[in-house]
Amino acid sequence: MKGIILAGGLGSRLLPLTKITNKHLLPVFDKPMIYYPIRTLVDAGIRDIMIVTGGNSAGDFLRLLGNGSEFGLEDIAYTYQQGEGGIADALRLTEHFAAGDRICVVLGDNLIEGNILNAVTQYQKQKEGAMILLKEVPDPERFGVPEFSDGRIVRIEEKPRTPKSNYAVIGIYCYDPRVYSIIRTLKPSGRGELEITDVNNAYIEAGTLTHSILEGWWTDAGTFESLHRASHLVAEGGANKQKTGKAS
Ligand code: G1P
Repeated sequence: MKGIILAGGLGSRLLPLTKITNKHLLPVFDKPMIYYPIRTLVDAGIRDIMIVTGGNSAGDFLRLLGNGSEFGLEDIAYTYQQGEGGIADALRLTEHFAAGDRICVVLGDNLIEGNILNAVTQYQKQKEGAMILLKEVPDPERFGVPEFSDGRIVRIEEKPRTPKSNYAVIGIYCYDPRVYSIIRTLKPSGRGELEITDVNNAYIEAGTLTHSILEGWWTDAGTFESLHRASHLVAEGGANKQKTGKAS
């Protein structure tokens, strides 16, 4: 299993903070944002990690992280995304690195209180397909939202006006190598991006998407409000503590 952190994009929702630097280098309480998703993967036992960066200050990731010795890693792989083509477009660039292995993808601005080890272990037992992680939230319309029927997800809608459940699809996804052929079939969405939600819907159509509910808090950090909340949550209780998620 390989780990991928998506840390590209222009961070336009955080201007002017992101005018000269990459969103994922901004501070979340006492560490740069990118530290948290790296810790999420390392805590799940994943040591082979690629960071996809882009936009401003791409070289600063190398200066900040080097070969990842602070995380006990031997090295970190890096690649560069031109422009803002979306999450699935960034993921496309990692096919060579994945080299036929399964992957765990973490969005660089997603922070968790606990640990995804149980979910990842459960996914590894799955014969094929994908696993997504869900969290109940008060504002599902900001995220990808699953619609359930008989306990199974039948569709995911990206930022729906009228959400069909109170769950957000959080930015941590496990995929088999089929993900790259799915990405090749995608068309840009209304916001001009290749959407990860379309990737997940393709797995639903194939009947191979499972989900796990995350325990402990989760937040993104891509807006002023959520960046502030992330710093507050980390300051109050810390992130990446040894709690595990329940798979279903
Ligand atoms: C992205 C995904 C969305 C997901 C969210 C999690 O949204 O498109 O489905 O719920 O990350 O952070 P974005 O941050 O691009 O608006």
